[in-house]
Amino acid sequence: MNHLQKINNSKPKRKPLLLKIAPDLTNSQLDDIIDIVASTKIDGIVATNTTIAREPLTYPKAEIEAIGMGGLSGKPLTKRSTEVIAYLKTKSNNAFPVIGVGGIHSPEDAIEKIKAGADLIQLYTGFIYEGPALIKNINKEIVKQNLL
Ligand SMILES: Cc1cc2nc3c(=O)[nH]c(=O)nc-3n(C[C@H](O)[C@H](O)[C@H](O)COP(=O)(O)O)c2cc1C
Repeated sequence: MNHLQKINNSKPKRKPLLLKIAPDLTNSQLDDIIDIVASTKIDGIVATNTTIAREPLTYPKAEIEAIGMGGLSGKPLTKRSTEVIAYLKTKSNNAFPVIGVGGIHSPEDAIEKIKAGADLIQLYTGFIYEGPALIKNINKEIVKQNLL
């Protein structure tokens, strides 16, 4: 991170540099992330990437094992990514911006991320499953709840 910051700072116009983290980190690892943001002066965190956990799935174990390794996105991630956002925001005393991402499939999911402290939200899998109207519906709900 320090090396990247050095390159970034040498540019005529530096770009915001964010670190994207896994939802599988422990609280103690998240504490380390908070320290890293402070020591490297990066601009924020993207929480979270996909998960290697399989616990949120309710399919038979054999079926899950047959699918093999890889990161899960979407609904199995919703709860954990929100927890990570809330932890980072609370424990750091809101020291840096967090882009909240992970399992946003409805306006309610988006509002939960914002209430957990996300400064911006991002979605990937929800866009595929729910379609572009999801964005409009999220925006409407944000305006309705006066969360801008
Ligand atoms: C097919 C696919 C490809 C992805 N590729 C990347 C990638 O190249 N870089 C990255 O940081 N995250 C990548 N992600 C993670 C997503 O950006 C996002 O953090 C994660 O899927 C959780 O959000 P979601 O539940 O809205 O999909 C990818 C996710 C999926 C499903």
